[in-house]
Amino acid sequence: MITATNIRKTFGDFVAVDNLSFQIHSGDVVGFLGPNGAGKSTTMKMLTGFLEPDSGEIRIANMAIDTSRQAIQKRIGYLPEGAPSYGDMTPIQMLNFIADVRGLTGKHKRARVNKVIELVDLEAVLDKPIENLSKGFKRRVGLAQALLHDPDILILDEPTDGLDPNQKHQVRKLIQNLSKDKIVIISTHILEEVTAVCNRAMIIASGKMLFDSSPQALQAKSKYHQAVNILFDDLPAVEVFSALKGVKSVEVDEVNCAVTLIPENAEDQLGTGLLEQASAALQSQGLTAKSMYVEQGRLDDVFRELTEEANLS
Ligand SMILES: Nc1ncnc2c1ncn2[C@@H]1O[C@H](COP(=O)(O)OP(=O)(O)OP(=O)(O)O)[C@@H](O)[C@H]1O
Ligand SMILES: [Mg+2]
Repeated sequence: MITATNIRKTFGDFVAVDNLSFQIHSGDVVGFLGPNGAGKSTTMKMLTGFLEPDSGEIRIANMAIDTSRQAIQKRIGYLPEGAPSYGDMTPIQMLNFIADVRGLTGKHKRARVNKVIELVDLEAVLDKPIENLSKGFKRRVGLAQALLHDPDILILDEPTDGLDPNQKHQVRKLIQNLSKDKIVIISTHILEEVTAVCNRAMIIASGKMLFDSSPQALQAKSKYHQAVNILFDDLPAVEVFSALKGVKSVEVDEVNCAVTLIPENAEDQLGTGLLEQASAALQSQGLTAKSMYVEQGRLDDVFRELTEEANLS
């Protein structure tokens, strides 16, 4: 439903987005990741028709954005970075104004305005000038306006940035509930958000695509994917664990009295192997563990490795 082919954007000599290509289908919830300055916001601006690519093509719902910008924008809800809005309006004035611009009228307009107020919990601040609102509430007003016309495509630039933990949770739930037949693209620096709400992770750096697959595939790139963590009251000698079949290495965390067994080949350990072996080893040594679990992988390590490699090349 969204196809970007070799899109490129430069600012003077600087290449912000460098030949990106991707396709996004209905039902996809894409987590768009990358270091500061990677080109995420610039890409989102091009997808929403706010910036034109220097070259390449963007097609949305079988329309080209350069020739059908308005028709495409009707189908998109966009939360820009920083959530710019009209500071001297109150949230209710702004939502009514945006609803008018979006062509909503009568009962339907009132119903949608009330719905988005409820969805992002704006009731308490409806009559305060937006410029006086806290950062999180400004962000919520931005989210509310993006959702107003119930678009099939939502492009949200750091939607949970600045929200309190309750609101973060609520916005994630909202995205999960929305996603059935829509396209949602969110940029974020919170990697756990991607595993929590997205079915696809795209990582870019210096405007180039580094990774485009499922969040699970991203976790599987971690050396800690399927690693077994064992917590103790007192650290035992770790040789017994290093000798286990399929253990590549053992990391010891003296501060937390924990041992991590890194598997040789994570895929071989799926559902079996290391955890049972480790339990057997504990038993045979007469050791008691406080807890023991298999982890899925550490996304921040994978992110760092991918983006640092890209920096070096
Ligand atoms: N209007 C502009 N003029 C000049 N340079 C720009 C402009 N907009 C963006 N850039 C540059 O393009 C690069 C990509 O910026 P962009 O905002 O897309 O990054 P980002 O991935 O969204 O980063 P962040 O995580 O910090 O939000 C940056 O180096 C930025 O300085
Ligand atoms: Mg940005």
